[in-house]
Amino acid sequence: DGGPGEGDPFQRVPSPGTSSPSSLNKGLPAMAEKKMWGGRFRQATAALVEEYTQSVSFDRALYAQDIAGSKAHARMLARQGVLTADEAARIVEGLDMVLAEIEGGTFVWRRELEDVHMNIESRLTELVGDVGKKLHTGRSRNDQVALDFRLFVSDRIRVWRGLARDLVAVLAERAGEHAHTLLPGCTHMQPAQPVSLGHHLLAYAWMLRRDAERLADCDRRTRVCPLGAAALAGTTYPLDPAYVAEQLDMYGTFRNSMDAVSDRDFVLESLFCGATIMAHLSRLCEEIIIWANPAFGFVRLPDAYATGSSIMPQKKNPDVAEIMRGKTGRVYGALTAMLTTVKGLPMTYNRDMQEDKEPFLDCDRTVSASLEIMAGMLRELGFNEGRMRAALRAGFLNATELADYLVGKGIPFREAHHLTGAAVALAEERSITLEELPLADLQGICDRIGDDVYAVLDPAAAVARREMPGGTGPTSVAAQLAELAGWLEG
Ligand code: ARG
Repeated sequence: DGGPGEGDPFQRVPSPGTSSPSSLNKGLPAMAEKKMWGGRFRQATAALVEEYTQSVSFDRALYAQDIAGSKAHARMLARQGVLTADEAARIVEGLDMVLAEIEGGTFVWRRELEDVHMNIESRLTELVGDVGKKLHTGRSRNDQVALDFRLFVSDRIRVWRGLARDLVAVLAERAGEHAHTLLPGCTHMQPAQPVSLGHHLLAYAWMLRRDAERLADCDRRTRVCPLGAAALAGTTYPLDPAYVAEQLDMYGTFRNSMDAVSDRDFVLESLFCGATIMAHLSRLCEEIIIWANPAFGFVRLPDAYATGSSIMPQKKNPDVAEIMRGKTGRVYGALTAMLTTVKGLPMTYNRDMQEDKEPFLDCDRTVSASLEIMAGMLRELGFNEGRMRAALRAGFLNATELADYLVGKGIPFREAHHLTGAAVALAEERSITLEELPLADLQGICDRIGDDVYAVLDPAAAVARREMPGGTGPTSVAAQLAELAGWLEG
């Protein structure tokens, strides 16, 4: 903490209640209020400063983790002989009373107590008396907040992981219904080759599965116990961080006390996981929005997931998908904010790090709600198979099939590509599809074409031919579904 010592020339302590020209000193209480850290302070905190520095208005979200961490710490202290078994038992009992008050809505949160940690500790001492003051033995708020937030982030990303998994299940279910529904597959947003809707939906299932796996990996580095690092250098008490970790179902303990109190990689990583989830959801939203446009007409939005217009009675807007696409920006913002906050921080704990909570809390609200809503919307989304099939007629999606057919007749691919281009140009000139070109015209382009070409040009045949692993063929889609089902069970 440091700061000016006794007789410091910079010390200017106005007597309490003295009016000050600085607006920061407005609302200074007549008596310097007693802070838990206030032993060396003679002047009360300025009201605006108190409001500016407090975190309890948002970090009270961590109350359950703070209490669980304190209970584990107290039990460890008793096991190590730092507290008596009776003292630890009274502290644990008191912490459970605090928990009941918070969950029962009777707990009074006090901003002048700064943060969740001091609010809970102060109430504990009110409830159990002086023994409560022993809880903080061998601990600093620096390792305490790191523990609480690691537990909190871990708890939340485990929820995200479950929601990502649920979304994979919905995508797989809908894909299973549509292994034979065909639509234009696009590159550059231009018709490319026919694919099955099942295959298209499974592309998103694999993305979300990677997200779930990324979260599991992130959790292994997040749910690690920093308690025992104390302020920064470790402590002289014979603490056992491994026992705290064990009680809190954590993967392990810190290896370096300075790293333990200064590391916020787990926040960065979890925000990145959230940002990637939102990127995936936003892409799906974009497709739903395009598909809902009557020019495509590939999907019917469920009423429960759409809104109307206040002026245009015919409108049914994909607002849910638009808001989700829009909210992606704020999650990217949270990641950028946190990267910027930690950049340039010297060892070890710096108060800047208090700025880690709000971006994560906001990201958590957005990611959890978005995953759940997307699953609900997809479950009910109507697919218009007729419109998808009709769209296969535009854009010469079977041109590759004709080129491959010519290769099968012994023509080198480059030449086959060129000849197919000529066929496309001819069909385009006549405003017809490739399969509508009469055989004589096709043979005029290449005499090796026979009437077996028409079966090849059928989009269902084009899809069915792509049965290599990971392809759009129905057997390949079934194999993907089986693999995902195995993963969903595991
Ligand atoms: N509210 C603080 C935070 O979120 C808690 C830790 C404060 N530690 C300290 N030494 N001031 O980071």
